[in-house]
Amino acid sequence: MIKVLALNGSARKAGNTASLIKAACKGAEEAGAEVKLVHLYDLDFHGCRGCEACKLLDSPGFASCAVRDGLSDILEEAKAADVVLLGSPMYFGDVSGVMRMFIERFLYPTLTYTKDRRRGYTKRVRVGLFYTSNAPATTYPEWYERQRKMFEQLIGPAEYMDASETLQFDDYSKYAADMFDEAQRIKRHEEVFPEDCRRAFEMGKRLATF
Ligand SMILES: Cc1cc2nc3c(=O)[nH]c(=O)nc-3n(C[C@H](O)[C@H](O)[C@H](O)COP(=O)(O)O)c2cc1C
Repeated sequence: MIKVLALNGSARKAGNTASLIKAACKGAEEAGAEVKLVHLYDLDFHGCRGCEACKLLDSPGFASCAVRDGLSDILEEAKAADVVLLGSPMYFGDVSGVMRMFIERFLYPTLTYTKDRRRGYTKRVRVGLFYTSNAPATTYPEWYERQRKMFEQLIGPAEYMDASETLQFDDYSKYAADMFDEAQRIKRHEEVFPEDCRRAFEMGKRLATF
């Protein structure tokens, strides 16, 4: 059976990113895959320590993260999966901190500085990247594409999608957020966001179909 590991990089378990990644999981399930969703904020872990143990030649730890913490089992599951789905809100023009820490720990062990640029992982894993942002859709495509290429070089065939101008606050009038047009955000959440989730569903289904 096709194995799919999905990771939510937002703390808001009922938020925009969670909705998008859950829709992708449903799509993968419809394709017949076995799907596991993990909320990264539930795990106790850190980013890469730069210990370089994963690059040590002739070592049993080659291409493997030596750090033992709450992410260790998830890293093994990600390497063994057929598909990895990663969802993150955009935080300061990048993925969230927890997603960034996961990416460091997942991608660095397979990277080598050899002349032939060989990869440490023997298996290729398909990757789906799901982003949400309050900025308009025109803001991050180049950045998304750079990140997609990084995954494609190091992990496997990668695709991305995003949901933009998301609903960030339950009641905008209660927060320091009057630069946003609340009525427009609510309308978008009701009319465009369901379509974003439908695209996430289709992408999850496509990625889990072999
Ligand atoms: C710490 C923080 C930083 C953010 N930085 C950005 C940003 O740089 N660009 C952007 O478009 N949205 C930014 N946002 C908004 C979120 O990306 C957006 O509301 C997202 O859809 C939230 O996802 P969630 O509902 O899954 O938490 C930021 C939000 C927070 C809390």
